Amino acid sequence: MNILIIGASRGLGLEFVRQYRAAGARVTATARDDAGQARIAEQGAKPLRLDVADAASVSGLAWQVDGERFDVVVINAGVYGPGTAGLETPTASDFDAVMHTNVLGPMRLLPQIAEALAPGARVAVLSSKMGSIGLRASTSGWLYRASKAAVNSVMKDASLALAGQATVISFHPGWVRTDMGGSGADIDATTSVAGMRTVLASVKPVDTGSFFSYDGQRLAW
Ligand SMILES: NC(=O)c1ccc[n+]([C@@H]2O[C@H](COP(=O)([O-])OP(=O)(O)OC[C@H]3O[C@@H](n4cnc5c(N)ncnc54)[C@H](OP(=O)(O)O)[C@@H]3O)[C@@H](O)[C@H]2O)c1
Repeated sequence: MNILIIGASRGLGLEFVRQYRAAGARVTATARDDAGQARIAEQGAKPLRLDVADAASVSGLAWQVDGERFDVVVINAGVYGPGTAGLETPTASDFDAVMHTNVLGPMRLLPQIAEALAPGARVAVLSSKMGSIGLRASTSGWLYRASKAAVNSVMKDASLALAGQATVISFHPGWVRTDMGGSGADIDATTSVAGMRTVLASVKPVDTGSFFSYDGQRLAW
């Protein structure tokens, strides 16, 4: 198995690296600083430098993975942005930071990744149940919610564009104890990533364009 994890300096991304390496896979993973790259290398994976919010940085990915054929690609990098409670208009800079990382990043990455997929590859975007409109019961973090709803749309288009080539899905990883999820979250990163790896191993081409929870349940848009 040949694996690519985008955004793997810590949290769920680094846990994907750890578990795929423990399973004997060959892993390439990205971070945007030396410390993150060192943590990736410690797991026996190949670290690459990548800032998903930087056009020049992302445009360098294609040549860095030239000749690779990935069986699994996980686009994990994401930011939460302002922790708003109601209809608090975000600043333009918060809007740009969240949307550039969570939405424009995948829109820049997916065309490059498409060139480096093994036949029958699986591509996953780390979205969130907070992006589901159908399941919406709270207004907390509405900028983050908007970004994850938008990346679900991006994933769906990627699933259509890559039909017959790759199975493309969105994940809700659960509410996970990471820097983003906080110490009071429901589950640990080990459980979340083990679940998502099981889903990635079991999805079929017919599942492309679907939104899955880490435990395999299908989620409403
Ligand atoms: N934890 C949860 O409960 C939860 C729930 C639903 C969805 N998610 C989603 O799951 C994904 C991972 O979450 P997490 O909990 O592991 O978050 P985290 O602990 O905050 O880690 C975020 C990761 O994204 C990377 N990242 C952020 N901006 C980046 C950029 N511009 N370029 C490259 N990498 C960047 C970070 O790298 P640096 O170290 O360089 O900052 C870090 O590796 C995110 O997309 C998140 O929205 C998480």
